[in-house]
Amino acid sequence: MERIFAACAPGLEELLAAELRGLGLSATATPGGAEAEGAAAVALACVGSRLADAVSLRLFAGPASGLAAALAEGKARFGAGADMQVRRRGGEATVSIDAAGGPLWKRGWRARAGAAPLRETLAAALLAFAGHDGDRPLLDPMCGSGTIAIEGALRAARRAPGAGRSFAFEAWPGRDRAADAEVRRRLATAERTPPAPVWASDRNGGAVRLAGRNAEAAGVATWVRVERADAALLQPPTGPGLVAVNPPYGSRLEGDPAAAWRALAGLLPRLRGWRLALVAPDRGLEKILGLSPSAALSTRNGGMSCLLLKYEL
Ligand SMILES: C[S@@+](CC[C@H](N)C(=O)[O-])C[C@H]1O[C@@H](n2cnc3c(N)ncnc32)[C@H](O)[C@@H]1O
Repeated sequence: MERIFAACAPGLEELLAAELRGLGLSATATPGGAEAEGAAAVALACVGSRLADAVSLRLFAGPASGLAAALAEGKARFGAGADMQVRRRGGEATVSIDAAGGPLWKRGWRARAGAAPLRETLAAALLAFAGHDGDRPLLDPMCGSGTIAIEGALRAARRAPGAGRSFAFEAWPGRDRAADAEVRRRLATAERTPPAPVWASDRNGGAVRLAGRNAEAAGVATWVRVERADAALLQPPTGPGLVAVNPPYGSRLEGDPAAAWRALAGLLPRLRGWRLALVAPDRGLEKILGLSPSAALSTRNGGMSCLLLKYEL
């Protein structure tokens, strides 16, 4: 049995805890992430979680008077260079060790960031927030570097986000490598060919090329159709499905964001019966759509606050 802490952006804790439970762990949301436990919890979370930004193994939780002994034990077990994190609150303390060895949102496929890429874990959270399991079509009509469509294709293919990566925990001394390999094998047996189309488009040719290259690097290019199109003129695939999008929010590079939101509003009449999930900076530009969200969640993307909003069209 291993106890872990999986970290996520604020606001996403319940989604992360639910995901970890779906992986077979017992998990509870806590500020900034989720506490979870279970057999091979470290491997399951590092390889299988789409929402966690970081995962650490809990070495100690108890009265702060036990801290020195816990640190000495940790050093002896993992070697002097181990990245141990100590937290104290009141008379209580925890000691944890980073298990991933790098940010989990870096899946390893991103060639070069687009103008304003969404963090991979936030794209995954948007899809989880929308309740998308990949059985229905997915469309991102303002795809930029392709993050939402690529995460959507990986989810629809049930491919573990860490399938092609190695992690720090795999080099820990005394690790049960057979048990870790079994986790990878078990996650791999869930893979399937996505049953529904994944479409990504953007009016910017450079973004379309970048999304195509990223889909190739992520190993999902055969499942993601990437094309150049203005959202206002786009003919969507046969639905209903999910339209998940991160429209421009007004950075210097993006031109007039209100025009982009009007283009999205122009697409919506062709998406009757679909669900819409989007990332917005606030409730300002979103008013252009003239819709009331059925759910909203506030979180952060790259240091800026943002909202996840969901609508039934
Ligand atoms: C915030 S970026 C999307 C970033 C993307 N989620 C990613 O992770 O890279 C917004 C995108 O909307 C595109 N866009 C703006 N107006 C558009 C329109 N009318 N039709 C299609 N795409 C548009 C821009 O070219 C830009 O790539």
